[in-house]
Amino acid sequence: MAKLPTVFSLRHLLVLSLALNLSLILKLVYEGEHRRSSSNNNHSCFEAQRGTSTNSNPDKSRMLISLPNSTCTDQTARGGTNRIINLDHGDPTVYETYWRQTGEKSTILIPGWQSMSYFSDVSNICWFLEEEFGREVLRLHRVVGNAITEGRHIVVGTGSSQLFLAALYALSPPDAPQPISVVCASPYYSSYPSMTDHLKSGLYKWAGDAESFDKDGPYIEVVTSPNNPDGHVRGSKVNRSQGYLVHDLAYYWPQYTPISSPADHDLTLFTVSKSTGHAGMRIGWALVKDHEVAKKMTKFIELNTIGVSKDSQLRAAKVLRAVSDSWELQGNSQEDESFFKFSHKLMANRWKQLRLVVEQNGLFSLPKFSTAFCTFFNQVLEPQPAFVWLKCEGNVEDCESFLRAHNILTRSGTHFGVNPKYVRISMLDNDENFSQFLDRLSAIKSQ
Ligand SMILES: Cc1ncc(COP(=O)(O)O)c(C=O)c1O
Repeated sequence: MAKLPTVFSLRHLLVLSLALNLSLILKLVYEGEHRRSSSNNNHSCFEAQRGTSTNSNPDKSRMLISLPNSTCTDQTARGGTNRIINLDHGDPTVYETYWRQTGEKSTILIPGWQSMSYFSDVSNICWFLEEEFGREVLRLHRVVGNAITEGRHIVVGTGSSQLFLAALYALSPPDAPQPISVVCASPYYSSYPSMTDHLKSGLYKWAGDAESFDKDGPYIEVVTSPNNPDGHVRGSKVNRSQGYLVHDLAYYWPQYTPISSPADHDLTLFTVSKSTGHAGMRIGWALVKDHEVAKKMTKFIELNTIGVSKDSQLRAAKVLRAVSDSWELQGNSQEDESFFKFSHKLMANRWKQLRLVVEQNGLFSLPKFSTAFCTFFNQVLEPQPAFVWLKCEGNVEDCESFLRAHNILTRSGTHFGVNPKYVRISMLDNDENFSQFLDRLSAIKSQ
């Protein structure tokens, strides 16, 4: 038998053994990852089901934190009607498709040495406001025409949620004998009551529906327009001399409602969460007329979080710039689709499909909206809110439970200060969940 040269065979055996070991290690790593990710998914599914089965949870509005996934797949019935569709929260993942194709235009790189200081501009009332972010906020409002910015201070916050609390703090008389009442016309955004009362502040206290508010003295009224949950355009309801108004205009953007005129209020809140869909960036801003109010809001944020993440502000600036550029430079190249054209078309399409399903099914009803001239798109348009405010008609008294029995998770009217025949359903979820939701809704027969 021919003898192989020793050097040749040893080298080959060594290479072969290395290759075998490497493939074994890769296989173990891959299987470990796979196991981890599927166990995480099951955890989210469990959380979602557990969370919504307790109807009495008063803080359900803040469940966004414990409900990361809007779908839960029953492993035994993937894609079937056992799959739970969670449209209880308003997580704006619908815009992901747009942002995926923007590439560099919405991407930032932050070197290790950057954004290290607490301070941004010590000469500004809001000393932690990044100049670039402030500039892009002003530009976007000018492009869209949805707010007057002249004579306003910009206060940046960790989401408009932090700014809401900062506004309550800033507007409350510091030494009043009792807390100032905070009201909002029902149906109101379900987080307002819990955010107002969570820390049992001695400065302010939730006092419910603005329509029935009849207490003398100072009060704070929150005006949400277009409104979460029902999408209607609103003005203040109480209209008394000692009232302070906070305008929450989270949804005053062209994809949701016709822009009728630039908002001109004392204190207005906006957020990237609903305008561009970047809820995870946690950036909001307030336009504040009064110098002292802006100072007190800034103080609140200073005491609360010593400012607002610079990294997030820089990222938000880049995203807002991409939105403004996509409108002002549209047509310059084929990829430059305007964000608002994209999002408006998408919402229009969803509302059209939903109306059709609701009409054919006959068990539910939707709010009716009037058309209005939109100065941004330069045409008469209909509102197409971020949420559906759905009413169960007939003898269904608890619409949330009724839909839950069909594995659709929604938020009951009771969380918004009205009766349980209504539910709020997110229109901002991804395409797959939205189309599953429509299929599920159209298949429902009466009880
Ligand atoms: C009316 C309204 N205001 C404020 C917020 C919270 O916004 P942010 O994510 O900026 O805290 C929401 C979120 O759903 C909202 O609907």
